[in-house]
Amino acid sequence: MEKEIKIITKNWGQINPNQIADYIAVGGYISLEKFIKEMTPALALEEIKLSGLCGRGGAGFPTGMKLESVQKEKSKEKYFICNLDESEPGTYKDRSIVDCDPHMLLEGIIIEALIVGACKAFIYVNGNYQKQIAILERVVGQAQEKNFLGEKILGSKYNLEIEIFVGAGAYICGEETALINSIEGNRGEPKLRPPFPTQVGLFGKPTAVNNAETIANIPWIIARGGKKYATIGSKKSPGTKLFIINGSVKNPAVFEAPLGTKLSTLIDEYAGGVQKGKEFWFAQVGGSSGRLVLKKDLNMKLEYDREAKVSLGSGAILVIDKTVDIHELLLSWMSFFRRESCGKCVPCREGTFRLWEIAKRLQDGEISERDVIAIKDILWTLNNTTFCPLGKFAATAFGDAINNFQKEIYRLSK
Ligand SMILES: Cc1cc2nc3c(=O)[nH]c(=O)nc-3n(C[C@H](O)[C@H](O)[C@H](O)COP(=O)(O)O)c2cc1C
Ligand code: SF4
Repeated sequence: MEKEIKIITKNWGQINPNQIADYIAVGGYISLEKFIKEMTPALALEEIKLSGLCGRGGAGFPTGMKLESVQKEKSKEKYFICNLDESEPGTYKDRSIVDCDPHMLLEGIIIEALIVGACKAFIYVNGNYQKQIAILERVVGQAQEKNFLGEKILGSKYNLEIEIFVGAGAYICGEETALINSIEGNRGEPKLRPPFPTQVGLFGKPTAVNNAETIANIPWIIARGGKKYATIGSKKSPGTKLFIINGSVKNPAVFEAPLGTKLSTLIDEYAGGVQKGKEFWFAQVGGSSGRLVLKKDLNMKLEYDREAKVSLGSGAILVIDKTVDIHELLLSWMSFFRRESCGKCVPCREGTFRLWEIAKRLQDGEISERDVIAIKDILWTLNNTTFCPLGKFAATAFGDAINNFQKEIYRLSK
């Protein structure tokens, strides 16, 4: 196994996550203190830019660039949002951060909010995460008592309020403009961009939205410097990543590995390999919206690279063995996307529903020639005409399955 580097998980299992004293005893809130006493927002931003950190919410957008856009906006009212919606099936990394080291996340939120000049930060939490909501409420209270939050933080000129906003658990509300709509009390559906949230975001004010895992890297970067962070992981996307490995592996769990680690290493060495008596068929990388990777491509490096064929997405990896029924998989993907399509645009609202109907017929062995033609049309429509990326997401795995396993998919149908 490659040299173990722990940034996000370094305290997992070592401290009591409910005790702020435990976090402080292992160097917690030192980065916030350093930011307040020795740095300016501009200097801290420089460190984040040097680190090469990019977003762990799926798109891999450079974090420094996003923060800079908001920092340079002149508005007196700005917002910072921690995205903890995490509705991607098979993804539980952000939830694990809250379970195991919530103060690290909170410290990152406070620093990022102060860097951009936010008057208020929100933690947008998935409504199904009741246990994590209670943890977050507790740790926000503890941080307030220590004056890491609130008025004149640690005797400085900085003030910050944090609100925990509980979403309804809709997949689309993880998309940042839908999330903003949801906090504003509007329907949880995406908005047209531009303008981007960094200019016109929450309540029409400049807003930075970051994924919880992205934010959890910030205390490390501020404490040790961006240059050091940039030496970890891959050149294209430095740092580590939380990978959630599920399915037919011996040890399904969340693992922290340097970006650039090979998919085969993650499956064989981190997750203990394929379960005894089972044979690897393919892996789905990036959650339910992820692409299917065959055995011949297992040597691929996992990193954020806009040119890569396979996007990392949330970092969820589902390992499928040869006993799995492909028809059941198709139906489960489409049941999800049909349910989660927000309904704003016709191609996605209708397309996901039609593909779900066809997936049911495939499972029942009732596929017709017309369905085979319709599949191609619907996949094209989802890929090319929908309002937001969810449409494309819905077509990704289904399209890969049709391209790679045509024989298996159509053979069993009458
Ligand atoms: C359909 C859809 C669902 C998304 N769900 C999430 C989510 O649950 N959590 C998340 O952090 N980002 C999610 N995103 C990405 C966000 O829109 C946004 O890019 C991200 O929160 C930015 O943070 P980052 O730069 O730290 O990755 C989703 C995007 C789309 C299109
Ligand atoms: S693509 Fe789907 S989720 Fe996105 S706006 Fe259209 S209907 Fe809503």
